[in-house]
Amino acid sequence: MKAKIALGTDHGGYLLKEEIKKWLIANQYEVIDFGTNSEDSVDYIDFVYPAAKSVSQNEADFAIVFCGTGLGASYVANKVQGIRAALCQDEFTAELSKLHNNANVLVLGGRILAPQRALNLVKVWLNTEFEGERHQKRIDKIHEIELFECKSHKNN
Ligand code: RB5
Repeated sequence: MKAKIALGTDHGGYLLKEEIKKWLIANQYEVIDFGTNSEDSVDYIDFVYPAAKSVSQNEADFAIVFCGTGLGASYVANKVQGIRAALCQDEFTAELSKLHNNANVLVLGGRILAPQRALNLVKVWLNTEFEGERHQKRIDKIHEIELFECKSHKNN
């Protein structure tokens, strides 16, 4: 069974999202597309947040999210509990983001990456598994910060 992938983007990543979506479907991945569905200007927050949230709620296995640079999309995705979103521009970082950081969201800049290059990153990312061991303890520490920040915010 292949992974279920959520997609979310603004207009800046729309064309790239469509390319990646075509490839995912052609390669038997299940896709949940949270939009946007045109090049009309929208706010990346409104599309990236639900895509990331679907991963934290286990509706999707992973998400691939986009905006023009990937920066805004990565800020949004990394606000969601349990999300480790990796903004990648090269294959090495894409591989390491899974291997060492267990990224569950891949972030791509639609105005940064040519479609073929982005597709190569996606393939590497989807085909790489988390290495665990010493890296798990680091992921746990990140999670502890997340919980602490959440609690201290509630107490303020
Ligand atoms: C939209 O013009 C652009 O600001 C957005 O796609 C993204 O790059 C933000 O980080």
